[in-house]
Amino acid sequence: MAHHESLIAALPKTELHIHIEGSLEPEMMFDLAGRNGVKLPYASVEETGAAYQFSNLQDFLDLYYQGMSALMTEQDYFDLTYAYLKHCADDNVRHTEIFFDPQGHVSRGVDFKTVFDGVSRGLEAGFDEFGISHEIIMCFLRHLDEDDAERMLDLALNYRDRIVGVGLDSSELGHPPSKFKNVFRRARDAGFKLVAHAGEEGPPEYVWEAIDVLGVDRIDHGNRALEDKELVRRLARDKMPLTVCPLSNQRLCVVPDLKKHPIQRMLDAGLVATLNSDDPAYFGGYMNDNFNALDQALSLGRDEIVGLARNGFVAAFCDEDRKSDLLRDFDRAVATL
Ligand code: ADE
Ligand code: ZN
Repeated sequence: MAHHESLIAALPKTELHIHIEGSLEPEMMFDLAGRNGVKLPYASVEETGAAYQFSNLQDFLDLYYQGMSALMTEQDYFDLTYAYLKHCADDNVRHTEIFFDPQGHVSRGVDFKTVFDGVSRGLEAGFDEFGISHEIIMCFLRHLDEDDAERMLDLALNYRDRIVGVGLDSSELGHPPSKFKNVFRRARDAGFKLVAHAGEEGPPEYVWEAIDVLGVDRIDHGNRALEDKELVRRLARDKMPLTVCPLSNQRLCVVPDLKKHPIQRMLDAGLVATLNSDDPAYFGGYMNDNFNALDQALSLGRDEIVGLARNGFVAAFCDEDRKSDLLRDFDRAVATL
């Protein structure tokens, strides 16, 4: 069966679901830990491979928070972000919307400003050198309480012009979106776009809550929405984008096998699905790897691959001028492929 590696490589793409801390490759994690005197639970880079075997989301999160503890200085956050932007350039990603988890840093004594300035400078370098545009989404850790999220929102208000939206991530089960109803209302009133991880491990009810209680503009993951026909109709009717992450789903056992990935059912139901890498350093691949893995598992059609990539531009939070430029360039590129 012919696959579409060269089409995938040549397609302009967006990334709308990437935790910047999840792009921390083991090599850099060791370098930074050495430079900052941070102790890691691995003796070598090679040992991380054996450790990065996950049975569920929490298994991964435990190592993700441990890994990010190597990040201390503004330069560290710059290096992390700039390295990710180089992967974007390699994969022909033209626009990226990155998540960051300030609570994972502030709780270790790293200032919000240190994190933000380093990430922001990395993104700006990516624009200057590669022409890759970006937006920044601040996520609340849902295993913490709403008051903690409120304090992060207070800090984010100082950067209102540089942060496009707020999101919700970390341990899903037991932490429904409604737990964050007040902080999301305040974020919406302040003009932020809203997203939430929902239906990754959590039930369809959590997706309903993300839409009806929080009022999100996109759903991150959303796999389990397919268990509820009424919810699928609602997502299709509202053209609610889903940021789907195939290699993440495989590595966190959200799907038993990529051959069983529901992307085809999502597209058939008329959902605006996009493909993304989530935490590429932990899940074994960046954007093109995610497209190729899914294509190889499911033998997608050319139109489906083009449609998935195009949905990313449609669902992006950039301003309308940038979006129409990106879409025009995308359509021109497709016409030549
Ligand atoms: N934080 C980083 N990656 C995540 C994921 N896939 N789900 C929830 N929280 C996360
Ligand atoms: Zn995620």
